[in-house]
Amino acid sequence: MKDNPKDSENLYSTWTSTKVKLCFLLLISFSYISYSLKYLHPYLCTQQSQLPHFQSHPSIPQSDPTPTQEPKTNVSHIVFGIAASAKLWPHRKNYIKLWWRPDRMRGHVWLDQPVKTDPESDHNLLPPLKISGDTTGFKYTNKKGHHLAIRISRIISESFRLEMKNVRWFVLGDDDTVFVAENLVRVLQKYDHNQFYYIGGSSESHLQNLKFSYNMAYGGGGIAISYPLAKALEKMQDRCIQRYPGLYGSDDRLQACMAEIGVPLTREKGFHQFDVYGSLFGLLAAHPVAPLVSLHHLDVVEPIFPNTDRIHALQRLELPMKLDSAGLAQQSICYDINRSWTVSVSWGYAVQISRGISSAREMELPTRTFVNWYKKADHAAYPFNTAPVNRDACQEPVVYYLSKAIYNRRTNQTTTEYVQHQTKMPECNWKMANPSRIHKVLVHKSPDPHLWDKSPRRNCCRVFRPNRKKKGTMVIEVGLCDEDEVVEVS
Ligand SMILES: *[C@@H]1O[C@H](CO)[C@@H](O)[C@H](O)[C@H]1NC(C)=O
Ligand SMILES: *[C@@H]1O[C@H](CO)[C@@H](O)[C@H](O)[C@H]1NC(C)=O
Ligand SMILES: *[C@@H]1O[C@H](CO)[C@@H](O)[C@H](O)[C@H]1NC(C)=O
Repeated sequence: MKDNPKDSENLYSTWTSTKVKLCFLLLISFSYISYSLKYLHPYLCTQQSQLPHFQSHPSIPQSDPTPTQEPKTNVSHIVFGIAASAKLWPHRKNYIKLWWRPDRMRGHVWLDQPVKTDPESDHNLLPPLKISGDTTGFKYTNKKGHHLAIRISRIISESFRLEMKNVRWFVLGDDDTVFVAENLVRVLQKYDHNQFYYIGGSSESHLQNLKFSYNMAYGGGGIAISYPLAKALEKMQDRCIQRYPGLYGSDDRLQACMAEIGVPLTREKGFHQFDVYGSLFGLLAAHPVAPLVSLHHLDVVEPIFPNTDRIHALQRLELPMKLDSAGLAQQSICYDINRSWTVSVSWGYAVQISRGISSAREMELPTRTFVNWYKKADHAAYPFNTAPVNRDACQEPVVYYLSKAIYNRRTNQTTTEYVQHQTKMPECNWKMANPSRIHKVLVHKSPDPHLWDKSPRRNCCRVFRPNRKKKGTMVIEVGLCDEDEVVEVS
């Protein structure tokens, strides 16, 4: 709880960076002045220099005036601010332990009251704990919500005031948010942390988005705020919060202040608020072509793997995450042409095999295994396209869940194994092989840490010829699509 950087160090760092900035400004302005003089007073120059010649003008610095490239953003540049409450802490801390890496990450859990720490089971597995500042002076008038929203909204300012060094991004999340840190870094690397950015995702509920805002980053899905924006926000947030006592939550308060600053939401499809009930299967089996950054509402939805508890289910994702985080839950679609089956792989999570040839545009839609946040709402209440679960009984997919993952250094390939989830399949009278005879699917894939350095594109998959000796096993390869390779049956 006492990791304030030493004041002297801070002073020094502030002073040096100011000095550097000052020199840089002087350099720029000096060349600008001398350049202007020459432009305005051609007699100082040769005849030809009456018009600006940027390339050859002697008073313009020849070298590129932009500062040298900074090192790429990594996880050490992020400061996490996790909103938690003492009441739910004994249970919720287990979600944080799943993704927190104390040796590499920086940040704090912000609580309303002190909690008992368990030195044995928590030792070194959790971020340092902090108690949020007093907010009794702030007005809160929303009848449905809770005053704690103000405390949580201020985590960003309180984190900023700690004056930690080399911070590029503040990332906010809840105690029931699980981050895939490598993918969070991949997303943040795309943006210039020296500018104002407010990054996150919307709700899966259209009604939620109408009620709150489509312009709002949902707190549970995670919100990334660049350092300079956090700095601008910190200066005005307490005043701003007082202007919106009627808002419900912490994230709509944050958005109200962003609107005052004038910074729009940069939407990233891998931040998942998961405002749904039921099973996330449909969403995770047809994830958007974007890195998976976060999962939320893990107490609300069913465990992501069947027949296990929530924490163990999430732990099962850790191995594929370690082997190939960029590819986690990335979908690829292909066909077993000889048997007229459609195969959909969500790498590291699940495989589905269904009878018949379904097009890619159908397969890329999440099936509605989940229920809307407003339970009475129907499929029209999602802000994205979905597909019904119960299509033709014959097209009901057989589902295989991740069971093992290994990496072979010699071939530079991962092999993930998925085993069939036994369910009662509906009667089907199609004269076509039944995919439920396949008990296990093996997927070979090279790890591709640079997947997201390229423009987004789904990987391709290919079904191997069946091995007579291993009738119940299907082998698939996933990787970059070859030239001209598309999802088609010709
Ligand atoms: C992260 O970047 C900094 C440079 O800003 C570098 O010193 C550090 O070694 C990097 N850390 C990792 C884990 O790559
Ligand atoms: C493994 O393959 C991937 C994709 O082809 C490549 O980016 C990576 O560098 C390879 N790694 C090794 C250790 O050869
Ligand atoms: C499909 O059948 C053809 C002809 O028998 C065979 O050459 C091919 O390998 C088979 N493909 C698969 C994926 O089973």
